[in-house]
Amino acid sequence: MAFTVAIDGPAAAGKGTISRAVSAHFGLAHLDTGLLYRAVGRKALRGGDPVAAAQALAPEDLQGDLRTAEIAQAASRVAAIPQVRQALVEFQRQFARRDGGAVLDGRDIGTVICPEAEAKLFVTASVEVRAERRFLELVAKDPSVSRESVLADVVARDTRDAERDTAPMAAAADAVVLDTSEMSIDAAVAAAVELVERRMR
Ligand code: CDP
Repeated sequence: MAFTVAIDGPAAAGKGTISRAVSAHFGLAHLDTGLLYRAVGRKALRGGDPVAAAQALAPEDLQGDLRTAEIAQAASRVAAIPQVRQALVEFQRQFARRDGGAVLDGRDIGTVICPEAEAKLFVTASVEVRAERRFLELVAKDPSVSRESVLADVVARDTRDAERDTAPMAAAADAVVLDTSEMSIDAAVAAAVELVERRMR
């Protein structure tokens, strides 16, 4: 039986952590859709055509470290190209409706990919809190990263993602908004699990 949990929200809001926890708690498959755009962004950085890259995206394209600041920006740029998004729609829709249920996190899951999702969350937090979380992740891998550059990257990406014409980042009208600015990760996960449980009844 299909049961879809759609988790959207701006950069570094905690979607990944919450999605993984919800997926483990309920035994649902998980797709981090940001990785698809990051993989296309990495190919574009290497000189590839983003539309062709999206059309031919293969599992091996998801290998390696896609969670760098440079790839995040490239992802956000290619994600504004309508044909790139179009090429990735069908895979995401099939994943969303697979037997046994699925959690997908991204920007347009509850609005465009799976408007019929049984549970929808829009996870957010203040830009300062999100930039600090992302800074701590990135600086662990690269000590030369600065807080200022991470904040600027997050703001640039949010603006681009929210203002693009095709599938802009937005909370679906029927999404529950979860502001994690002042929440521990455990509390945010508990709130998400509770929402999904209610929708399963
Ligand atoms: O982890 P973080 O929130 O920083 O980003 P991500 O979810 O990995 O997404 C990287 C970029 O891909 C975003 O800034 C968006 O531009 C794009 N994206 C999108 O347009 N639609 C999605 N469903 C997921 C990601």
